[in-house]
Amino acid sequence: MVTTTQIMVFMMLAATLLANCEPQVPCYFIFGDSLMDNGNNNQLLTQAKVNFPPYGIDFPDGPTGRFSNGRNMADVIAQLLGFNKFIPPFATAKGMEVITGVNYASGSAGIRDETAEHLGARISMDKQIKNHWITILRLTYLIGRGSIIKTKDYLKRCIYTVGMGNNDYINNYFLPKYYKTSSVYTPEQYAEALVEQYSRQLQDLYKSGARMFGIFAAGYSGCTPGIMTEFGVNSCVDEVNSAVMLFNSRLNTTLNDLNNKLVDAKFILLDGSFEYPSDLNVTDTPCCVVSSTSGKGQCAPNQVPCSNRQNYYFWDAFHPTERISVLSGTKAYETLSSFYTLETIAMYKDKDTGYISVA
Ligand SMILES: *[C@@H]1O[C@H](CO)[C@@H](O)[C@H](O)[C@H]1NC(C)=O
Ligand SMILES: *[C@@H]1O[C@H](CO)[C@@H](O)[C@H](O)[C@H]1NC(C)=O
Repeated sequence: MVTTTQIMVFMMLAATLLANCEPQVPCYFIFGDSLMDNGNNNQLLTQAKVNFPPYGIDFPDGPTGRFSNGRNMADVIAQLLGFNKFIPPFATAKGMEVITGVNYASGSAGIRDETAEHLGARISMDKQIKNHWITILRLTYLIGRGSIIKTKDYLKRCIYTVGMGNNDYINNYFLPKYYKTSSVYTPEQYAEALVEQYSRQLQDLYKSGARMFGIFAAGYSGCTPGIMTEFGVNSCVDEVNSAVMLFNSRLNTTLNDLNNKLVDAKFILLDGSFEYPSDLNVTDTPCCVVSSTSGKGQCAPNQVPCSNRQNYYFWDAFHPTERISVLSGTKAYETLSSFYTLETIAMYKDKDTGYISVA
């Protein structure tokens, strides 16, 4: 005869086994800019694309459109969550691939539609949300058996990370040559307008079924080699950093408001700061040879980059090395951990079937 204790021991063993081979959440959706883009810009007419060497020099598939020598932050988070493949870019995701999530991120994209238009095509946050609706339609056929309610039931168990705002500063507000925002808004007003628009976009995602959100704070791009060059200085540009600080602080307040307002939703602010290991000691010079003629602070094609990439903070004039992405991605994963404690997973799991059954 099988005792209750035996059944419980068996169930605990089964749970452990499952935990070892299944990701901690069934799906992960990624919205963002070049810090997360994994190939969505490759087919676009834009200067903001990087599907050529030396990009990808440390990535198994070589240059893929990631703005990095290796993995980006979204890749690192996906790996830590236990996915055995990277989340596919929307531009090329096919068939069943969308079930574990989609990456919509696009280099140069912003909260505002016009952001970075001087560089060419890009997929703004509004367009990324439209693309997500296309995925939801696909999922409704693939796993919802035609039911949007079942599909939303699935989506509420997915993690969403969104990282936006960087380009609304570096490819908009601080480029008065192309954009008039800095003559229309003070930095305070701009932060307020941006966060208001961002908040509406996040609420759109909530309406489409998202519940577990990690929102990246904007980066202090005043310290990037690219901005320092643009401003003709060799130390951090305080004017840029203090504008970004206004944005981050408003964003934090707004996320707290959304947590109070939207039933069952949880928004967590992911801020990128962490202790640098002491051998990460090249903080102001890009590892690759930056092109002076094309793109925006991107590596010149086919030039040999630095070999001691583990010592560098910046891969090109704006983007971090893989090492930085591993550190900040790991921190983001840990900050999000309340979403995938065993209790949370149990709560979000379908009572009868575990993870959604794939027919
Ligand atoms: C965000 O707001 C919370 C609650 O008001 C506060 O405890 C936290 O320190 C803030 N975080 C940042 C990064 O400003
Ligand atoms: C950075 O650290 C590495 C390893 O510890 C060392 O070899 C290198 O000389 C340092 N570089 C600078 C610029 O301090």
